[in-house]
Amino acid sequence: PRIAVLISGRGSNMVSLLRASAAPGFPGRFVLALSNRPEAAGLAHAAAAGLATEALDHRAFPDRPAFDAALDARLRAHAIDLVVLAGFMRVLTPGFVEAWAGRMLNIHPSLLPLFRGTHTHEQALAAGVRLHGCTVHFVVPELDAGPIVAQAAVPVLPGDDAEALAARVLAEEHRLYPAAVALVSSGRARLEDGRVVFAPGV
Ligand code: GRF
Repeated sequence: PRIAVLISGRGSNMVSLLRASAAPGFPGRFVLALSNRPEAAGLAHAAAAGLATEALDHRAFPDRPAFDAALDARLRAHAIDLVVLAGFMRVLTPGFVEAWAGRMLNIHPSLLPLFRGTHTHEQALAAGVRLHGCTVHFVVPELDAGPIVAQAAVPVLPGDDAEALAARVLAEEHRLYPAAVALVSSGRARLEDGRVVFAPGV
């Protein structure tokens, strides 16, 4: 499958995905990196890795539907099969999400359904949980609420602040996301009637 990675900033998850996909036998090829911010540092990484890169500045569009229509057109122009959101900080419209149902993944820095939204590490510290982590899920119209493909857990350690916890989670994201993308792009995990179905033996 032809995979697009969408970013808004530094793109550390994208870098780990591109590294993993360079391994022989990785089921799928990252062919496009797209950002809603033209200045996103990650675009340079992607270009260096040989991907096509595009920037769709969301400020150039009158509203979300217009932005999403342009995004959809670019993805189709590159014959994309799977969309991977990696630090993509735009809320997508239900129409766009439905059009890519079962073909769009996101990674969220918490053990969903706990701690949806932003500042998840601060939320975890405030809640006093002892386990925290990250979640890869299919994207549905409701934010941070899609069917879960994979999760990784990390301990919350005494003395942790949000920065320390975020770093521990991010290291797991860099391991989890490539594995989860491979599961989906190989067909070993798929979305069926709103639930994740795994092929036998996964
Ligand atoms: C990560 O914490 C990820 O969970 C969230 O965006 C953050 C930035 O990731 N989706 P990246 O370094 O831009 O990949």
